[in-house]
Amino acid sequence: MAYTREHCLRCRQDFPALIKNPGLAFLDGPGGSQVPRVVIDAIADVYASCNVNTHGNFAPSQEVDRRMATARSVVATFLGAPSGACISFGQSMTTLSFNLSAAIGRTLKKDDEVLVTQLDHEGNRGPWLGLQERGVIVREVQLLESGELDPADMAAKITPRTKLFAIGASANSLGTVNDLGLARRLTREVGALLVIDAVHYAPHFPIDVQALDCDFLLCSGYKFYGPHVGVLYSRPGALDQLPTDRLSVQDPAAPYRIETGTLNHAAIDGVRAAVEYIASWGSGSSLRERIVDAMTHISAYEHSLAKNFHDAVRRIPGVRVYGPDFAVGRTRAPTVSITLGKATAAEAATALGKQGICVWDGDFYAARPVQVLGLHERGGLLRTGISMYNTQDELNRLLTGIEKLA
Ligand SMILES: Cc1ncc(COP(=O)(O)O)c(C=O)c1O
Repeated sequence: MAYTREHCLRCRQDFPALIKNPGLAFLDGPGGSQVPRVVIDAIADVYASCNVNTHGNFAPSQEVDRRMATARSVVATFLGAPSGACISFGQSMTTLSFNLSAAIGRTLKKDDEVLVTQLDHEGNRGPWLGLQERGVIVREVQLLESGELDPADMAAKITPRTKLFAIGASANSLGTVNDLGLARRLTREVGALLVIDAVHYAPHFPIDVQALDCDFLLCSGYKFYGPHVGVLYSRPGALDQLPTDRLSVQDPAAPYRIETGTLNHAAIDGVRAAVEYIASWGSGSSLRERIVDAMTHISAYEHSLAKNFHDAVRRIPGVRVYGPDFAVGRTRAPTVSITLGKATAAEAATALGKQGICVWDGDFYAARPVQVLGLHERGGLLRTGISMYNTQDELNRLLTGIEKLA
């Protein structure tokens, strides 16, 4: 079943924020998406039905145990993981990324190398850069003017000394989709771990961690129509031996080994509901089939809106578009970043915000690519992100707004 304009209009009825704010165009998805009613209901229902702690010998506690196990299993299916035992939850992707780097850092020796990229969000750089304090050497894959990572530089910097490569699946600043196949091949050759930040990728493309063959993958529920919960996939066996920060009384097995304290049960059940909501737009006999079908068709819809917008906005005098283009055959996230004339991104976003158009400005914590592109001093980028509930009409409004500003 294709996902068309009619489906999009129908889906908008599921999002209370869109009904409540008919004048607002939420084109800020890369910063966080809106949530459908079923997600809000799922969160509220945990508080109404089983707002107690886990592992008790009484019914509401057994119910919350059941919901947490279901959530792990549903998120595992979303990511193509073999089971819920591969899925850990945390406060945010950044928190889990710090927890992971602290644990892996303890296994590294002075002069071991870790590789990050110039394109990534700080959430996939800062925790690894911090390992320099332990004598680990952290190197960076260079970003090209085109908005893509330099494959030759990647190949040159993955050496027998490399113990881990942390790379984004897609850039939240420029919409680039990275060559993860190359990253896996190169890291395999030297026995290095591969850590993928899929925060920007997860809302737009089906994910199959087993096909990606990664060791760890992180994403964040609030980018794919859920609440604020970080998700960590660990390859079976990858977490079990890691010296994570944890209490002596805590379950040392995966996936609990890296989780700290009591989790946000209501929000985690909300993530489960978000995945099932996405799946409700697909067809197939299993949840996995429905997820992949829905994501494939939503992705095509978002791509066509983003391509139209990209083609139109780059023709406006004074506008410069950053990141790879929408060439046929290129996988590209539906995220378009621009600068326009003399106006800073903040001035443009403020003027558009007054017209009810929600777009982000600045570096969106992707400070390194913005700096490398020489845009830091001029206030960064104006970023438009397209979600499953966005329409061509909203993008037309944005184009008119940008034309006036330029
Ligand atoms: C690509 C990317 N990675 C990591 C993060 C950090 O995610 P979180 O807010 O869950 O820590 C973000 C958030 O915007 C992001 O876009």
